[in-house]
Amino acid sequence: MILVTGGAGFIGSNFVLDWLASSDEPVINLDKLTYAGNPDNFASLANDPRHHFVHGDICDRELVAGLLKQYQPRAIVHFAAESHVDRSIHGPADFIRTNIDGTFSLLEAARAYFETLSDTLRAQFRFLHVSTDEVFGSLGPDDAPFTETTPYAPNSPYSASKAASDQLVRAWFHTYGLPVVTGNCSNNYGPLQFPEKLIPLIIANALAGKPLPVYGDGQQVRDWLYVGDHCAALRRVLADGRLGETYNIGGWNEKANLDVVHTLCDLLDELAPATQSYRQQIKFVTDRPGHDRRYAIDARKIERELGWKPAETFETGMRKTVQWTLANQDWVRKVQSGEYLQWIDRQYGQQKEVNA
Ligand code: NAD
Ligand code: DAU
Repeated sequence: MILVTGGAGFIGSNFVLDWLASSDEPVINLDKLTYAGNPDNFASLANDPRHHFVHGDICDRELVAGLLKQYQPRAIVHFAAESHVDRSIHGPADFIRTNIDGTFSLLEAARAYFETLSDTLRAQFRFLHVSTDEVFGSLGPDDAPFTETTPYAPNSPYSASKAASDQLVRAWFHTYGLPVVTGNCSNNYGPLQFPEKLIPLIIANALAGKPLPVYGDGQQVRDWLYVGDHCAALRRVLADGRLGETYNIGGWNEKANLDVVHTLCDLLDELAPATQSYRQQIKFVTDRPGHDRRYAIDARKIERELGWKPAETFETGMRKTVQWTLANQDWVRKVQSGEYLQWIDRQYGQQKEVNA
């Protein structure tokens, strides 16, 4: 079996659902259930004996050591993190704790467990670290996309904490021989994404008749990847990634934020028409401090070595995402409760409208 951390969050729950749809290998799913963790995401697995959910913290070394001893997983797939850049600006402490201390604690538990394994089991064991392209910092308009050798230059508390975790993972390979492999992925979108991130927030606000907040001039560029494609890439990296290596994972879909918002408005105009175009709700608001201008991923290494490339285009992935959201309004309404409302008020309540 495998141990997944953060499997109640957006990408982790998609990974667990996809994994169990294509394999009978059981999953232990360890998640603290922060505001971003949602057991409804794997409600369809309620009676599935292949899924063992454990409510707990990756920083709890004793708990993790006990799980490793009890279940003897052949791999750890590490998603658990604080993941939202804007929240890291308001309160970096949780990011340092979970993303750095938590990854350190998990590595130490994994190392102690690895040392108890037979040679055969050691040869199979993997620690797959799920990371981000934000560790590379910001690109200019004509810069080449990030490769695996681009120097790290994180600019937000979130990306700095992820960069630190990547470096710890690297060091545990070189110093202790822990069999690690890391994926650095671009912006994901798709079903089950918490509506604090751009795409689900815009869809939710549009349908609720609220303003669609675009930071600054809306010309910041991100490379968008459908979440199912990220999960497929991670399965390839877990199966055949070279030990100690990192793999950049991206969708070859560079888009300016304003274009993403326009695409969503146009899809909603088609699939859930209102009295006027949703584009009328767009509002330019104060920019994010330290806002990275452009990310772009060169994903040729994973394609060359592991034969992975994205299956979805931006158009097919965005259409699926809007359709999923329209069909799952109960899920959206349920997550838009207590803590979520406080966050929206804190982040957007004081924001000034600006001219783009
Ligand atoms: P998310 O915020 O939706 O989910 C994070 C999950 O981790 C939640 O279920 C939360 O409860 C859990 N968690 C948080 N702290 C924990 C702790 N101390 N112990 C145990 N569980 C804890 O995040 P996501 O968007 O699904 O991202 C998952 C991973 O992928 C993160 O490591 C993130 O850095 C990385 N990543 C995300 C993206 C993206 O676009 N969302 C892109 C590249 C990489
Ligand atoms: O690049 C990978 C990263 O992508 C992941 O590591 C992070 O976990 C994930 O949250 C995401 O980070 P971003 O900051 O790029 O994602 P977010 O959806 O928050 O914002 C996308 C872009 O949209 C960014 O340029 C900021 C802008 N934005 C965001 C929000 C929430 C707006 O203009 N308005 C908004 O209200």
